[in-house]
Amino acid sequence: MIQIDVNLFKNSYPIYIQKNIFLDKFLIDYIKSKAKKIAIISTNNLKKEVVDFSNRLKKNNIENFFFLFKDTEKNKNRKTKEKLENKLIENHFTKDTLIIAIGGGVVLDMAGFIAATYLRGIKSIYIPTTILSMTDASIGGKTGVNTKYAKNQIGSIYNPIAIFNDINFLETLNKTDVKYGISETIKHSLILSRDFFYELKSSKLSMEDIIQKSIILKKELIEKDLFEENIRKKLNFGHTFAHAIETISNYKTTHGKAVLIGMAIESYLSYILNHLSFEDLKEIISYLKINKFLDEDISYNFEKLYKGISKDKKNKFNSIRFVLLKEIGNAIFDIEVDKETIEKAFVWARNGFVL
Ligand SMILES: NC(=O)c1ccc[n+]([C@@H]2O[C@H](COP(=O)([O-])OP(=O)(O)OC[C@H]3O[C@@H](n4cnc5c(N)ncnc54)[C@H](O)[C@@H]3O)[C@@H](O)[C@H]2O)c1
Repeated sequence: MIQIDVNLFKNSYPIYIQKNIFLDKFLIDYIKSKAKKIAIISTNNLKKEVVDFSNRLKKNNIENFFFLFKDTEKNKNRKTKEKLENKLIENHFTKDTLIIAIGGGVVLDMAGFIAATYLRGIKSIYIPTTILSMTDASIGGKTGVNTKYAKNQIGSIYNPIAIFNDINFLETLNKTDVKYGISETIKHSLILSRDFFYELKSSKLSMEDIIQKSIILKKELIEKDLFEENIRKKLNFGHTFAHAIETISNYKTTHGKAVLIGMAIESYLSYILNHLSFEDLKEIISYLKINKFLDEDISYNFEKLYKGISKDKKNKFNSIRFVLLKEIGNAIFDIEVDKETIEKAFVWARNGFVL
């Protein structure tokens, strides 16, 4: 078992990487030591795994209930949160409850937000089951839901007490979730590690290595700035465009796909604003193109998209702020960009990302 510690003083927690975690006595003993009653929150898509796990907990005398929901991006909203919370109330879950979230980023964001607010905060552990949630969404404490206006608009920063990764879960993922699950990992390389970018490009790393390296890069940043007052902002690279694209597409474009497109556009923006060299831009765009990461139709009206960009959480005093690249592996943040330049970068993308 690999253990990576996230050091956040009294909010520190371990991240484990282990195969067949549901069969491991370590997990059972861990859960037993933390709570008397468990609420498992997960997705209909993992019903079989959840039922098996729930039975195993019962066999070990751990009282538990499970609550499954349809974990689409559209359902990641306040209504779903309320429904799940009502179930916790109706089943008399008290302050000493442990929530176990099993699923991708949507499940973790939802269950984590419930843990943050139910009875003013109860313990949670995360068992991420997608590449994106193992490498990114599970780490850093961001929880939240979407509104009809924008993504992740209501939420909190609230950490789980432990994260258990098991790469065997990835075997049942569909091809699209495997392909685009790497998006946030590429982001970690672009903003933090040139070496990691070239390792990803060379396709020589195992999935276990990719997950481990991605976790370490993110956790080191989180440890320095949990509340996004400073350098954590770098993690929003690609996301100003990504969130606007997800919203305008009515969530047909998934988060992973949108982040890849967002990173291409924001790399180009970095170049036309004289931060990023043409050579580095070419490296990034060719990598994204070779892997067919930029094939989504983005023939959107700019004004409509710009409305979404204007709602971005990074904006201050009505100015649009971006995270931009100085070079591969090095990002700068809080960069104000005017509307005309933003449009220029988007039109370049809409016309096929040609260099
Ligand atoms: N909190 C954060 O820091 C953070 C960071 C990045 C992304 N996110 C959020 O994460 C979400 C995207 O997460 P995601 O990419 O994991 O997608 P997802 O949660 O939407 O899951 C994708 C699909 O895979 C299914 N699934 C999950 N695990 C499976 C498995 N093992 N086998 C088969 N199917 C499985 C899900 O039911 C879903 O249909 C977005 O809402 C995004 O905003 C949060």
